[in-house]
Amino acid sequence: MRTSAIAASIAVLALGLSGPASAQSPIIIKFSHVVATDTPKGKGAEKFKELAEKYTGGKVKVEVYPNSTLYKDKEELEALQLGSVQMLAPSNSKFGPLGIREFEVFDLPYILPDIKTLRKVTEGPLGTKLLKLLDAKGITGLAYWDNGFKQMSANKKLITPADYQGVKFRIQSSRVIQAQFKSLGSLPQVMAFSEVYQALQTGVVDGQENTWSNIYTQKMHEVQKYITETNHGYIGYVVIVNKKFWDDLPADIRDPLSKAMKEATEFSNAQSQKENDDALAEIKKSGKSEIIKLTADQDEAMRKAMEPVYKEAAGRIGQGLIDEFLKEAKSPTN
Ligand code: LMR
Repeated sequence: MRTSAIAASIAVLALGLSGPASAQSPIIIKFSHVVATDTPKGKGAEKFKELAEKYTGGKVKVEVYPNSTLYKDKEELEALQLGSVQMLAPSNSKFGPLGIREFEVFDLPYILPDIKTLRKVTEGPLGTKLLKLLDAKGITGLAYWDNGFKQMSANKKLITPADYQGVKFRIQSSRVIQAQFKSLGSLPQVMAFSEVYQALQTGVVDGQENTWSNIYTQKMHEVQKYITETNHGYIGYVVIVNKKFWDDLPADIRDPLSKAMKEATEFSNAQSQKENDDALAEIKKSGKSEIIKLTADQDEAMRKAMEPVYKEAAGRIGQGLIDEFLKEAKSPTN
């Protein structure tokens, strides 16, 4: 009796010292992003957290920091490279300052008629090739997450290309987006996402372009009288992780995390359209912003006005890349 009690205490002690895996402190993944939790990306991040913790049996803990609470746009990429955070999901439009211009191909106006077409590119050879470019920057690209299509907002009615003349627009850091607004005679200004609401409110800028879910969750519709339903461009994300952190993970941790990422991606991409539809409905209900729909002729005029962007973008990202994108987008399947 006594001997077995001692043996039991020794066993307990030994367990405590060596520590069974589940009692060890978990591996922390800090996942920082700039949008609200109630958005396609915000929900994708939460789903990844749930699945990653479940599939690793608690050996990994994912801390999600939404709404730029940890870092703003440019800082978050630097923080990832330094290893201060492990995971991010910046939009395709934000990789230029890192020295990777190619993701800006997604910013070309009207290049994507719908999400089905986008999927052909992201799930095809070009999608894989683009992710590979990140390796050289100490970053591993894990997945593509959707947000949706962009709309134009301002305190004046934006109907014809002439309406854009001289209007100050906040933009993401993409040079292709800069060229887009220049083609309309507007004055684009790069600004972190977290600063947009205040800049619109105080008149630092007059307008901006974004998806319904971003406009609604940042309350931009409360400080913009008009939103024109242009669907002229796309916002989507590249989920990225610090390469060294990822490569150093033991396979029995990395594999379940990959599984969690795959499922979180399917989840996020399956509900992004609904998130945007719901946000549009809420904006309409609020009555704070008038939603303008363009006629077919007005839409055509916008497309024509932005056509020169393709030529200008070719100088930055290469005509070859644009052609490859268009070819994959047009292919029947991948
Ligand atoms: C923006 O800066 O407008 C967007 O990229 C924000 C986001 O992450 O959706």
